[in-house]
Amino acid sequence: MATQKQSIVITGGAGGIGTACAKAFKDEHLILTDYSQKDVDRAIEDLKKEGITAIGIACDITSKEDIEKLTKFVSDNGTFKALIHTAGVSGTMKDLQKIYDIDLVAPEVLIDAFYELATQGSVAVILSSMMGHTVPPSENYDEALSNPQAQGSFETIKKFIDGSSDMLYNFAKRGTILLTQKHANKWGSKGARIVAVSPGVIETPMGLKAAEEHPERMEMIKKATPLGRNGQPEDIADVVYFLVSDKARFITGTDIIVDGGVVNNIKKM
Ligand SMILES: NC(=O)c1ccc[n+]([C@@H]2O[C@H](COP(=O)([O-])OP(=O)(O)OC[C@H]3O[C@@H](n4cnc5c(N)ncnc54)[C@H](O)[C@@H]3O)[C@@H](O)[C@H]2O)c1
Repeated sequence: MATQKQSIVITGGAGGIGTACAKAFKDEHLILTDYSQKDVDRAIEDLKKEGITAIGIACDITSKEDIEKLTKFVSDNGTFKALIHTAGVSGTMKDLQKIYDIDLVAPEVLIDAFYELATQGSVAVILSSMMGHTVPPSENYDEALSNPQAQGSFETIKKFIDGSSDMLYNFAKRGTILLTQKHANKWGSKGARIVAVSPGVIETPMGLKAAEEHPERMEMIKKATPLGRNGQPEDIADVVYFLVSDKARFITGTDIIVDGGVVNNIKKM
């Protein structure tokens, strides 16, 4: 009997960390998704040039209808093994509602949708950020961050960010860490795991755009990094690969910081 293909699904598959993850999983059955079909096709074509095979479908992660199409595509094309959720935007996007929807509401909609496909051994890896760790725990907003689909969640968080899109990004990223804690029991009941990964400054299109907007701050962060450099997308992809593997079989409901050690120094700045 032929064994079913075990699919690795990567959102933000055309982005910096998404592409590096696709390369790390080059021998697996890869399903890429990103905002537009043009981006997805380009990413698949680029991988093909390196001898890597992937299939894909466009999905705007803020559209529940698109997410339904994505999960159907995944079900129609093998057995779900892992969701690697890298799609996101930074504070360089100034539309606060959009940042919240893309970086916090959409991750939970995806977590819920892929839970339906999850079975024993499935894994969800959700890309957060070291900046999520700069937002301290608080009973004033953690409930809202843990329930981003609830009415009034965004309005609650807006009170704490002083209109700053960068600050909202940080809050949303704290929210994704809380989501992995919240969903671990449910995923665990199926023998499945859910983990967040918090990158430091990574040299991808997103990282480079942020560096352009805040060059002095970025230089300061680099200087404050114990390992003395910015991260590369592969630094994250290698950790994601480990987390999806059976070697990480007892890790769930937590967050792994991959930042060259800088976040503790940032908190003191
Ligand atoms: N690069 C960094 O320095 C850094 C640092 C910390 C955390 N992160 C996080 O890592 C993840 C990946 O970042 P990256 O550096 O690869 O960014 P990137 O900009 O290279 O890639 C992000 C991808 O997300 C896609 N995307 C954006 N909105 C979408 C939507 N509505 N629907 C579907 N796709 C959408 C984009 O098209 C893009 O391909 C993000 O969640 C980011 O917040 C990055």
